[in-house]
Amino acid sequence: MTGALLQCGHYDRFECRSCTWLERPYDEQLASKQATTRELVSAALGARAEPEWLPPVASAPAGFRTKAKMVVGGTVGRPTLGLWDPSRGSVDLRDCALHSAGIVAALPMLASFVTRAALAPYDVPTRSGELKHVLVTESPAGELMVRWVLRSTEAATRVRKHLAWLLAGVPSLRVVTLNIQPAHAALLEGERELVLTERDSLPMLVNGLTLHLGPRSFFQTNTDVAAALYRTARAWVDELAPTTVHDLYCGVGGFALHLAAPGRRVTGIEISADAVAAAERGRDDAGLAPDLVRFLVGDATSYLIEERADLVVVNPPRRGLGVELATRLEESGPATILYSSCNPETLARDLAVLSSYQPVRAQVLDMFPQTAHLEVLVLLSRVA
Ligand SMILES: C[S@@+](CC[C@H](N)C(=O)[O-])C[C@H]1O[C@@H](n2cnc3c(N)ncnc32)[C@H](O)[C@@H]1O
Repeated sequence: MTGALLQCGHYDRFECRSCTWLERPYDEQLASKQATTRELVSAALGARAEPEWLPPVASAPAGFRTKAKMVVGGTVGRPTLGLWDPSRGSVDLRDCALHSAGIVAALPMLASFVTRAALAPYDVPTRSGELKHVLVTESPAGELMVRWVLRSTEAATRVRKHLAWLLAGVPSLRVVTLNIQPAHAALLEGERELVLTERDSLPMLVNGLTLHLGPRSFFQTNTDVAAALYRTARAWVDELAPTTVHDLYCGVGGFALHLAAPGRRVTGIEISADAVAAAERGRDDAGLAPDLVRFLVGDATSYLIEERADLVVVNPPRRGLGVELATRLEESGPATILYSSCNPETLARDLAVLSSYQPVRAQVLDMFPQTAHLEVLVLLSRVA
């Protein structure tokens, strides 16, 4: 842990103010995340007792983001990779201190590729140009996936033509795709993905398990803290030794694969078919039997599985479970719920609905230093 402040010229020049907590020492950020999360959870519990709060899990204060989402601006000759601001226009942030070292090292070559393949950056006010974003992910092994988000397939031939040059210039690059996002809307990516490389997913080795990350699947932004999250989940669940586990919003299988154990049936449910296919691949790589560990494409909100679970893991997007799913869980009655939340406000709202559950243990994990965002893991035991 550190009390030193991270220095950033972009922040000082008001070019990028995304790191809203940059002026707070890291120790203070962590303490504040713990305190506000505790307060919100406490207020939702009514007469129920407070859980035991374990010390928060810290992150490296810089270089922790293994996923970069860069808006491409400027011109073909002088592209910027960073953000677009209505008053300032495009801002180049390729030296952003939050990104992992492998991403920072690759960004200059990616900018050169924009020029070489003549990919005209999309200009928001005039709605002209082709290239909207470049999305980069780095795996723990230092391999990269790069996704070019384009307005149309107009530039696809030029990207293919110069791909060998890019692969030679960025030797860690394993997966390159084009994502087509035709709408003039603040959407990061579109539905259509064209994979240009032999490999179509990035192996993410986390705690000895390989999670396969495809272009359109979710993965936590901070891989080190995600690894700590999955290890903690496994330790807490192993103490309880459930025989049946459901993992709702399972993504590419992070929780499900960590919680698999001899004789334990684990079922993951996820809306993205690509993510489910990736989770199955991770299961097969780990040598886990498909009849013990299975993944289903479906809507977690309306999930219905014939077997009851002893323990249900939920890891929803920021909107939380919502009244419908929280009520369903409250009524269906698993003995334990393990709730991993990236939004303490929706967590608190869901806890109020889950009134038959006592939160017994909780821990804040800092996935997002320099901002108010965080992850929190709560173990809930049924008491009524
Ligand atoms: C916060 S991510 C968690 C993923 C995974 N648990 C992990 O550790 O990486 C939320 C996931 O929920 C999925 N999702 C969103 N809405 C859903 C729904 N209604 N039903 C099932 N999955 C959903 C998303 O595709 C995404 O993979």
